[in-house]
Amino acid sequence: MLKRKMLPFAILASLAFSLPAYAAPQPDSGFDNKILKRINADNIYNTIDYLSKEPRVSGTEAEHNAVRFIEEKFTSFGYDTQVQPFTFQSYKGPDDISLSISELEDVEWEISNFSYGVNGQATGELVYAGLGLASDLEGVDLSGKIALIKRGDISFADKVLNAARAGAEAVVIFNNASGAMNGTLGGTNSDFVPVLGLSKAQGEELLEKLEAGETLTVTVAVEGAEVSESTSHNVIATKKPDKEKDSGQIVIVGAHHDSVEGAPGANDDASGTATTLELARVLSDIPNDTELRFITFGAEENGLLGSYAYVDTLTEDEIGRTVGMFQLDMVGSRDAGKLTMFTVDGKANIVTDLGSGVGARLSEKVNYGKEGRSDHVPFSEVGVPAALFIHSPTEPWYHTPEDTIDKISKAKLQEVAEIVGAAVYLIAHEDTPPVKKTKAGPKKGFFNQFESSQQETE
Ligand code: BES
Ligand code: ZN
Repeated sequence: MLKRKMLPFAILASLAFSLPAYAAPQPDSGFDNKILKRINADNIYNTIDYLSKEPRVSGTEAEHNAVRFIEEKFTSFGYDTQVQPFTFQSYKGPDDISLSISELEDVEWEISNFSYGVNGQATGELVYAGLGLASDLEGVDLSGKIALIKRGDISFADKVLNAARAGAEAVVIFNNASGAMNGTLGGTNSDFVPVLGLSKAQGEELLEKLEAGETLTVTVAVEGAEVSESTSHNVIATKKPDKEKDSGQIVIVGAHHDSVEGAPGANDDASGTATTLELARVLSDIPNDTELRFITFGAEENGLLGSYAYVDTLTEDEIGRTVGMFQLDMVGSRDAGKLTMFTVDGKANIVTDLGSGVGARLSEKVNYGKEGRSDHVPFSEVGVPAALFIHSPTEPWYHTPEDTIDKISKAKLQEVAEIVGAAVYLIAHEDTPPVKKTKAGPKKGFFNQFESSQQETE
């Protein structure tokens, strides 16, 4: 009996006191078998199936339906459950964008929109404004003109603002690499003027003509874009420890329940949401000395808005007591690569050390690397050790209508749920010692190579 109790202690003690690298949990300790056996990938799969019937775009009825479903599940498992609303500016792209140049009537322009760009129509002479830096535009009067600006160095938003301040009626930003720009201005600003993106080749062609002294009369039009205030929600399930046993520590498991427009988001991120629910179920009756929080975030796809809103509500004291945040995002695709843990700075921390230790014991070594792009970021920014659990490289269905239940692998779900479940159990169980919140020393990182499909801000 004593031996059984000592083993987890040894595991966590070694994690807590050895620097820079923490020791891995012992193989076959058996300590966590009971909860591991209860994790059932069929439950996770069925929840993904339910959630991924339609896209769950933040602020829509579909997101609210998902929120109610998640809330009911957490409550049915016995958690103290809260739905936390927050407002945000949602953006709907334009119905129509157009570029025409009177001197080049027959050309089909390869144009693109910028998220948060304003509607409007303007005609004027095209003037090259370099990179659109404040220094490029000092003393320049662009009144009545359209600014042609090259991508690079500063954000798209700053280019538009600098040109607008110099008096430009509209802006055309051309790419500095081949391919789509997929740009965003990052948010609203009443000083914006209409802006369009243009391909590298066509932008350079226009620049050549201007440099050769030609005059180009350009009309830019953006119609039907809409910004409106919407409400999204986080769902927060809490299980406090018994008063006599309270270590004062908090551990968080998170996922985002929203998805992008047009994508049913089976993997992104119904998979993480459903896994969070299953872990909440199996951990609901463990004797815990660490407070458990299971959270599904809204509006992740709009810029990690739910997790930022949640972290904003935490007190300094709560932040100090939070020893780990496990973010589950895209954890079930049969067509993606291996399970990988990503931290914002690319360094190991208590979350990745537990993940690799438990992973090595239960299946195989789990590598880690550097990536933001999910709800672990706001936690990391306030000093909470946090990591994103995801399969890398990403599947081709990411953010497409093909992100559907038929691409989900139960084996992958089971593996992630067991690794994260066992790691959280090790932290939270009353028979394991408190985690020491230290920064791990640098480890050789694993850096992922896959291309980002993130909207670009510069
Ligand atoms: N699940 C993705 C993040 C992701 C995808 C990370 C592929 C690593 C590899 C997430 O839902 C997402 O799409 N995030 C946005 C960023 C966010 C700040 C809007 C993205 O990456 O475009
Ligand atoms: Zn996601």
